[in-house]
Amino acid sequence: MPFNLDDLQKARQALAQFRANAKSPHHERYSFPFFRGTYFAYRKVDVLRVAAIAKSIAPSPSYLDVGCGYGDFLKRIREFLPDAQGIEKDAGIFYGLGTEKPDYITVSDAHWIDRKYDLIFVGWMEPGQDFRDAVAKSTDVIVTTLDQGISLAAEFDGHGFEKVAWWRTPSWEDVNTEVMNRHYTKMPEDKRGRLAKLRGAHNLWYVYCRPHKSNAIREAIKKQVEKEPAGRYDFEYVLDECGYQYLQKLENPAAPEPLWQVQWN
Ligand SMILES: C[S@@+](CC[C@H](N)C(=O)[O-])C[C@H]1O[C@@H](n2cnc3c(N)ncnc32)[C@H](O)[C@@H]1O
Repeated sequence: MPFNLDDLQKARQALAQFRANAKSPHHERYSFPFFRGTYFAYRKVDVLRVAAIAKSIAPSPSYLDVGCGYGDFLKRIREFLPDAQGIEKDAGIFYGLGTEKPDYITVSDAHWIDRKYDLIFVGWMEPGQDFRDAVAKSTDVIVTTLDQGISLAAEFDGHGFEKVAWWRTPSWEDVNTEVMNRHYTKMPEDKRGRLAKLRGAHNLWYVYCRPHKSNAIREAIKKQVEKEPAGRYDFEYVLDECGYQYLQKLENPAAPEPLWQVQWN
């Protein structure tokens, strides 16, 4: 479903209001993920993992971010893969709001991908969208993030791909709830602490590849993880403060694995 221009304009006004009273310039990426961040909450370790996977395929790999929106994650990836490209089907998010579209983002539909890429990244596709056939025929390596339980269309097991590894991170909603409770809601500290124990983290990163590539991809991830943590972005302190530290184990039994810890399939 393309975005409704009226809704986008209202959301942008709400962002301006939020910004006027924000306690940190980094909160908006979690409260307004589409405009200012991503639907998945990432750290530099995620960017470096995805870049390392791509580089294990080719020294200057071709990379496509499908449904990249305004390209927040793509911009970070381009620090390591300068030729990385994105496609976004909704032209209105740029032209409707008078926002400049970077050259490396093409307005196009995933169903029309017409060449092969070394790696295709699909970051949090909304439920109901299913372009797995088009993506599967255009690459041997897919990294996807999905919201546990609702983004079934991001799972490629049935398309001749092997799931090599996965890890868990918070979604924007997990972090936004904590940010709101901590900084924008008046409540007793013990109540906030009790609510924090319920915090979830339901964004999953899946790494898929064709079976003949799985050893190389596994090795690339292992080598990269040995170097971690290697650098961080300025906004990561929000994740730390909200209890979403690198390798943090949550009390919520629905999220039993330490965050960001690679799980092997
Ligand atoms: C939930 S948003 C995620 C945006 C970004 N990847 C993120 O995580 O913040 C999904 C994006 O995919 C785009 N999209 C949906 N279907 C698409 C398709 N068939 N081809 C290309 N983009 C698509 C939507 O317009 C939207 O911008």
